[in-house]
Amino acid sequence: MTINVLFLAAEAEPFIKVGGLGDVAGALPIAINRLSNQLDSSPKVDIRMVIPFHFAIKQRGFKPKLIGEFGVHNRKGIVKCQVYHDDHLGIPVYLLDGEPVDEKSPVYAPDPILDGYKFVFFSMAALGLPTFLDWRMDILHGNDWHTAAAIYALKNFDMPPVHLSGAKTVHTLHNLPYMGFGVQQALMDYGLPPSRNPLLPEWARHTPLPLGLLHANQIVAVSPHYAEEILTPEFGCGLEDFLQTRTSALKGILNGLDTETWNPETDSEIIQNFSISNIVLRTKNKHHLQQKFDLLVSEETPLLTLISRMDPQKGIDIVLRGLQYCQDLPWQMIILGTGDPSVEKMARELESTYPDRVRTVIDFDNQLAHQLYAGADMFMMPSRYEPCGLSQMIAMRYGCIPIARATGGLVDTIEHISHRINGGTGFLFDKPYPSTFAQTLRRAIRLYQRPASWRKIQINGMQTDFSWEKSAQEYIDTYQHLVQEQQ
Ligand code: GLC
Repeated sequence: MTINVLFLAAEAEPFIKVGGLGDVAGALPIAINRLSNQLDSSPKVDIRMVIPFHFAIKQRGFKPKLIGEFGVHNRKGIVKCQVYHDDHLGIPVYLLDGEPVDEKSPVYAPDPILDGYKFVFFSMAALGLPTFLDWRMDILHGNDWHTAAAIYALKNFDMPPVHLSGAKTVHTLHNLPYMGFGVQQALMDYGLPPSRNPLLPEWARHTPLPLGLLHANQIVAVSPHYAEEILTPEFGCGLEDFLQTRTSALKGILNGLDTETWNPETDSEIIQNFSISNIVLRTKNKHHLQQKFDLLVSEETPLLTLISRMDPQKGIDIVLRGLQYCQDLPWQMIILGTGDPSVEKMARELESTYPDRVRTVIDFDNQLAHQLYAGADMFMMPSRYEPCGLSQMIAMRYGCIPIARATGGLVDTIEHISHRINGGTGFLFDKPYPSTFAQTLRRAIRLYQRPASWRKIQINGMQTDFSWEKSAQEYIDTYQHLVQEQQ
């Protein structure tokens, strides 16, 4: 049996990556394809990726092959969609173009109207693709709000085209607060009226993400813990009561990590490669950073790092304020990131307050990020919410111990260091308060002063399996289950 899966996302590596969605959309279909090719007994999965042919992809020099054109209906007539084809590590990728995509705008436009037309057109065009390719679709797999309209539209057909008939839907939630607000007109123009379903709050009946979640046969949050959190008022963004009605269709599947790119043994961006068997070499990376940033070169002083998009979600202010409660302790800190100007300003101010121990780099610097993972002792991840999170997994793989807020995927990937000797891979703190963070940092610094225990925790993290295979298997099981339900 072959299951045909159309995998839709707004961004995917290597074509374009803005955030974590791009990592996942670039890696998960590949992992599913690899696994399906390996297994004899399991179903085969013919997974095909679909992304918009963003202007930024053109600028980056990708030259996929134009394979044809078809029309997408909207209220004003027909909008043409050009289909480009490429291959990414063995799977077909379709890049869809057309007037609403071909705006010379960024991947995500600040204007919700432009964004709305782009992604609603994209979603509707993706539904035209199976017919265009003469390829029967068994599963439509959407991601985030940008592609949720496709799931709603599929349910809205009076008579679906034959290539779509009987298809089941999976929707992966990477970030609930981004629902696609303000795109009601685009939905209407493409023939998608508001829902009348009373389970949805009024405002959600014309908002793409909730509409997709209303009809998806399976909702997948990117971690089991996030799947539970979104059922509560703190994380549910007003959809918690509605989501409570969909719990039988909701589960969490943890994202994986690209363990080839992120491998301290082979990483060419770092000064000194290392592995569990020669972890002592890691110190060279730390000393290099201390020298490079003109900090005191010392093994006894723990070097902290924070590498993040500077966005309120990431809770960076919690760490910046919390450190002030820890002035009496030995620590140094290197901060790397860009984003919200007020957070950037706070990070710069911390450097002015502690010129002998803090360095702030307002930049996106991939190489420095690798070096920080490889050389720093502790990794700060104080997220207010974190559906899955990737950096904590990278940090653990590089022997940099995470100090993270106990939320979402951080809970599922970091094993909290309990009082049990030698257990755990990192520190989790509960409330998003500077004082709670500070208490946890104190504990971490105390433990750092016991090198043998510290080493054990580093090794626990480095041994953890974060590869994509496990997630890929869970998604394949999900597809199979849905397809069998149909019979
Ligand atoms: C979003 C979430 C992040 C998650 C990523 C990929 O960026 O904020 O937690 O890891 O999507 O699923």
